[in-house]
Amino acid sequence: MPNAMLFSGFRLRDLQLKNRIVASPMWQYAANKGYPTDWHLMHLGRFADGGCGLVFQEGTSVERRGCGTTGDLGLWDDCFVEPLARIVALIKANGAAAGIQLLHCGRKARTRAPTQGRGYLARTPDIEDWDEWEPISASAVALKEGMPAPRAMTPGDIRAVVDAYAAAASRARRAGYDVIELHAAHGYLLHQFLSPATNRRGDAYGGSLANRMRLVIEIVDAVRANWDDAKPLFVRVSCVDGAGWSVDDTVVLSRQLSLHGVDVIDCSSGGLVGSPLPSHAAPDYGYQVQYAEHVKAHTGMPTAAVGLIVHARQAEAILAAGQADLILLGRELIHNPNWAIDTALKLGVDGAAANWPPHIRYWLERRASATPGFMPSTFAP
Ligand SMILES: Cc1cc2nc3c(=O)[nH]c(=O)nc-3n(C[C@H](O)[C@H](O)[C@H](O)COP(=O)(O)O)c2cc1C
Repeated sequence: MPNAMLFSGFRLRDLQLKNRIVASPMWQYAANKGYPTDWHLMHLGRFADGGCGLVFQEGTSVERRGCGTTGDLGLWDDCFVEPLARIVALIKANGAAAGIQLLHCGRKARTRAPTQGRGYLARTPDIEDWDEWEPISASAVALKEGMPAPRAMTPGDIRAVVDAYAAAASRARRAGYDVIELHAAHGYLLHQFLSPATNRRGDAYGGSLANRMRLVIEIVDAVRANWDDAKPLFVRVSCVDGAGWSVDDTVVLSRQLSLHGVDVIDCSSGGLVGSPLPSHAAPDYGYQVQYAEHVKAHTGMPTAAVGLIVHARQAEAILAAGQADLILLGRELIHNPNWAIDTALKLGVDGAAANWPPHIRYWLERRASATPGFMPSTFAP
């Protein structure tokens, strides 16, 4: 398949992606007081080295009080620009575009990491700025029974959050990122405003769909004004959340976002309350692709598909059927960071190993050509 769509490249504004394989943002819980560590360099660097066209850094908090756990990355201060620029440089030096996801956890702030059982994080003396780390949300609706309710945001909080996104966009530009994605999915702050289950406000930011979308749109405008017209802006949405937000609402929102300068809708689901899957069924291969297809068909916007996309032919078929424009992979890339190069080999795409530097390519091509019937480990048991 020399003409595989996965490797056909994709242009967004002035950014040319070399292929349509994207590393999905994945929280590493490995930051130190918001600063990246060597782990982030390795985690993101290997996806670039492995051939992805675009590598997204995990959800990175725009406000201190927006951090989910103690290990979250931050962008609420200028001091984060320089260490993040090092990550950007590494990703780009290895042939990929560098993306950052901007996040505010809202009522999901100040929790334990999944490996520590999630849930409410009790005050500990080693967190010096505990009082600044206050969970806020559209309304005072607790995440779970037994957890403290967040504080309902005042008009001043709303202004501060919009300004924080604007400042973070400006810092992301200075750090050299190619793409910003706003995290409006998975039950985090922007999703908390969108969904009627968590937004009980009586002001201009609550009630009607137009009012619930207002904060996201104001943030998109603020980010666009501080970003770069030549660079794309993505928004990740939970297309359905099982709590009152529907795929039709997502279509209405996406059309508005497009008018305000958003280029791609990254189509996820759930995260607000429990599972959005019918009957809470276990997810199956490509379980969210239907949303990318629906949003693309009803808005004409480019979409990104994500969620249990694992195999080369599965990913290629999604693109070939016009269900999405970009393929995001999360856990499979952790399993196999060389997925893109591996997939190019499997699909018979020319120049599959071109991503590797010459000294690496030399040895791999020599191995393949010198051994009749040679297959790498991912091809055969
Ligand atoms: C370790 C881990 C961390 C994640 N962190 C984020 C994140 O920071 N932002 C986000 O939008 N999604 C996050 N996700 C969700 C993934 O981006 C992706 O949407 C999800 O894992 C489904 O794709 P997959 O089946 O290819 O893993 C995370 C997933 C994992 C496994």
